Amino acid sequence: MSILKVARMGHPVLRERARRVEASTIATAEFQRLIDDMFETMDAHDGIGLAAPQVHHGVRLMLVGIDEARQGSASDRASVPVMALINPKITTVGRETGEDWEGCLSVPGLRGRVRRPNDVRLVALDRNASRVEMTLHGYPARVVQHEADHLDGVLFVDRMESLGTLTFLEEYAKYWARD
Ligand code: NI
Repeated sequence: MSILKVARMGHPVLRERARRVEASTIATAEFQRLIDDMFETMDAHDGIGLAAPQVHHGVRLMLVGIDEARQGSASDRASVPVMALINPKITTVGRETGEDWEGCLSVPGLRGRVRRPNDVRLVALDRNASRVEMTLHGYPARVVQHEADHLDGVLFVDRMESLGTLTFLEEYAKYWARD
């Protein structure tokens, strides 16, 4: 496995619509290696999600989740199950929305508040090409929406209602981090 280079905001690959993955591609050694390398890359950067365009692959593959052992105490971050999701389709359930801080490995050093639907239905294929179907609420719903946005060339800053909450990590820790 290897740690892949993460594209930063401004790289065109982050603004392109990623291609669908053919079912026959999923079992190939090359694709499975990409998944393994992306997991290693996500762990190396303490990420909770990573989409293939962020590592310069324009395909509809994204990872979410966090190892509870690494995260420590049970927080909302720990509630995101570890999954590789291929060709994900996300639909909003209900009308409730919530606002929370987001960051992105492709927008290093910054956080901003983003409003998103609280509940979503997720349909995707997993790394065994099996169909995954689930309803997610709250933080996990936010994470899959953030990652799925990457597959359509959208960054969290595009979703901010105002840039007024765009905050450097140091100032975030000083003024805004909740315990
Ligand atoms: Ni991101």
